[in-house]
Amino acid sequence: MPSSLSPAVVFDPATGLDVREVSRRAAGPGEVEIEVRAAGVCHSDLHVVSGDWPADRPLVLGHEAAGVVTATGPGVTSVSPGDHVVLSWFAPCRRCRRCAAGQAWLCTGTRAVANTLPDGTTPFRGADGEEIWPYLGLGAFTDRLVVPETAAVKVPEELPFSIGALLGCSVTTGVGAVVNTAGVRPGESAVVIGTGGVGLSVVMGLRLVGADPIVAVDLSPERLAVARDFGATHTFDGARDDVAAWCRDELGGVDYAFEAIGSPRVIETLPGMLAPGGAAVLVGMAATGATGSFDLFDLADQGKRILGCNYGSSVGEIDIPKLARLYLGGRLPLDELVGRTRPLSEAAEAFDDLRANAGVRTVLEP
Ligand SMILES: NC(=O)c1ccc[n+]([C@@H]2O[C@H](COP(=O)([O-])OP(=O)(O)OC[C@H]3O[C@@H](n4cnc5c(N)ncnc54)[C@H](O)[C@@H]3O)[C@@H](O)[C@H]2O)c1
Ligand SMILES: [Zn+2]
Ligand SMILES: [Zn+2]
Repeated sequence: MPSSLSPAVVFDPATGLDVREVSRRAAGPGEVEIEVRAAGVCHSDLHVVSGDWPADRPLVLGHEAAGVVTATGPGVTSVSPGDHVVLSWFAPCRRCRRCAAGQAWLCTGTRAVANTLPDGTTPFRGADGEEIWPYLGLGAFTDRLVVPETAAVKVPEELPFSIGALLGCSVTTGVGAVVNTAGVRPGESAVVIGTGGVGLSVVMGLRLVGADPIVAVDLSPERLAVARDFGATHTFDGARDDVAAWCRDELGGVDYAFEAIGSPRVIETLPGMLAPGGAAVLVGMAATGATGSFDLFDLADQGKRILGCNYGSSVGEIDIPKLARLYLGGRLPLDELVGRTRPLSEAAEAFDDLRANAGVRTVLEP
């Protein structure tokens, strides 16, 4: 039986962004019903709205969320009604070779990136019965969801929902980029270009592991001030300052250069910032089909590396509870990453916040 209708933020390639009434079916085998309590607005949602990542059908947006389990389908064993959960947007299949190797962030069996549940269906229907699809298998900008069991990661009840939401994407990606993808060690140097929700999480990850110096670059003085609070030792204006020249002249190059924007033009500058043996870490996601070019002789001659980073090379069921414990123990300043809270009806304004680089992370509450 479909549930009663309630509002959801939908991007329809035919008509754009609006708030529509949707229903959802009950959880089937291996699925879990969730009441959403908070959902962060990530630039990956904006990539869909702006057309960087073309959508071919209507999607309920939202993939950075936390909530409470309200029901479980047959065969579900890892969560029960009442559990507080953070949602993982790359629900692993747990059967493919990558999952078997403990690399869930590289899962080849997930249907999340096809914007469906694992069985290829959507739980959502519009008022006229039309199918509306869950962005990244979640579709979290609404009040109730049906998600795969592997997307629902149990977290302590004392974790605030707004913080849990950010653990669903930006924090796990940004801290994971440092700890898992790059494996930064104490005293190693790093540049972070782009200090939105993801880049600021990279900065806090760098402080957590004792990186030094930590150089942050953005266009927004407000965000650079937050980056300093989070541990950046130097900040630069990306539009005005020649950061690559400064890194070479003052530091002899850095050990790691993280890009958290998704700009090919910025990504192309990363190798020029690196010390011999250093690594560029591509955290920002460019538009579909975007390309870039590098000085190939310099890369080989100087032993420089380019590392792709999906979801902070994280295993949700291990890394999300670990980050929750670090926050609860006072080791990650996530309260300062939660910006404005808005109702679902202000989704358009929430995207404007993101476009304007205003404040830190905007959170929607159904
Ligand atoms: N790798 C992953 O798994 C993963 C996960 C989540 C998000 N992402 C991607 O990470 C990127 C960042 O996401 P976000 O939510 O933090 O975005 P955001 O919009 O909050 O932050 C982007 C920041 O980049 C800054 N910026 C833009 N152009 C710049 C320039 N030329 N120089 C310096 N700074 C510049 C902006 O001022 C802004 O602060 C997006 O591409 C998103 O899709 C990747
Ligand atoms: Zn995201
Ligand atoms: Zn898999």
